[in-house]
Amino acid sequence: MAGERSEMTHTIKNLTLKIWRQNGPADAGRFETHQIAEISDEASFLEVLDILNERLIEQGNEAITFDHDCREGICGTCSLMINGQAHGPQKGTATCQLHMRKFTDGDEIVVEPWRARAFPVIKDLMTDRAALDRIVEAGGYITAPTGGAPDANITPIPKVVADAAMDAAACIGCGACVAACPNGAANLFTGAKLSHLNLLPQGQAERLSRSEAMVETMDEYFGSCTNHGECEAACPKEISIDVIAQMNGDYLKAKFKNRKLLSKR
Ligand code: SF4
Ligand code: FES
Repeated sequence: MAGERSEMTHTIKNLTLKIWRQNGPADAGRFETHQIAEISDEASFLEVLDILNERLIEQGNEAITFDHDCREGICGTCSLMINGQAHGPQKGTATCQLHMRKFTDGDEIVVEPWRARAFPVIKDLMTDRAALDRIVEAGGYITAPTGGAPDANITPIPKVVADAAMDAAACIGCGACVAACPNGAANLFTGAKLSHLNLLPQGQAERLSRSEAMVETMDEYFGSCTNHGECEAACPKEISIDVIAQMNGDYLKAKFKNRKLLSKR
């Protein structure tokens, strides 16, 4: 097997990278062009930036700042616009899982940070995505009985519901949905975070109060959804836009429930 692998040939590419450089939030920013040669098809997009940074440092220049952590498509930090597409050209793929085989020898690749009012640039390709955390914080905790771990399967959950909740829980909080949306809306993210709790029995106690708090916090920071669907197309976890319908339904129910409570006062 190892022999087979060593006989495999990997295409080598020469690329031009047009990369956004910005010294800080107040700096106007500019594109910087770099030629990068002898890049293997097997290199990931972030590895290409690593190679470029090593060269910049060797030449006594400042390295390009970009966010990354797990490099396994889990943490959601590798937030880059690549040729105008959030996370680049491969559907259902985070930037760290994107490999150079998706590009052609001689390509010019434009690399930018997320472009959204709620995500100010910290430096170069790194943005501040803390507004997403504010939405999650607004959701608070779920009521859960303390004590020993309950027996498995003690709470029956239909498979279709468990699958839908699991699909929503796949959201890695990357913010590509916001960056891809012409309104800078965070409805796909918020819908995913709400659906993975609101669909399950364990999430019912605070279902409506959580929906109200998270949607209203989302509205403080982000634009409004006008059903473009760009969020779903850009999402590396292929979260369905159905979670937005689920969220809107729960938010409306919360508002009607509050109205009934007010009328009883
Ligand atoms: S919904 Fe998709 S695009 Fe939006 S934050 Fe979650 S994983 Fe990223
Ligand atoms: S670095 Fe963690 S998802 Fe890409």
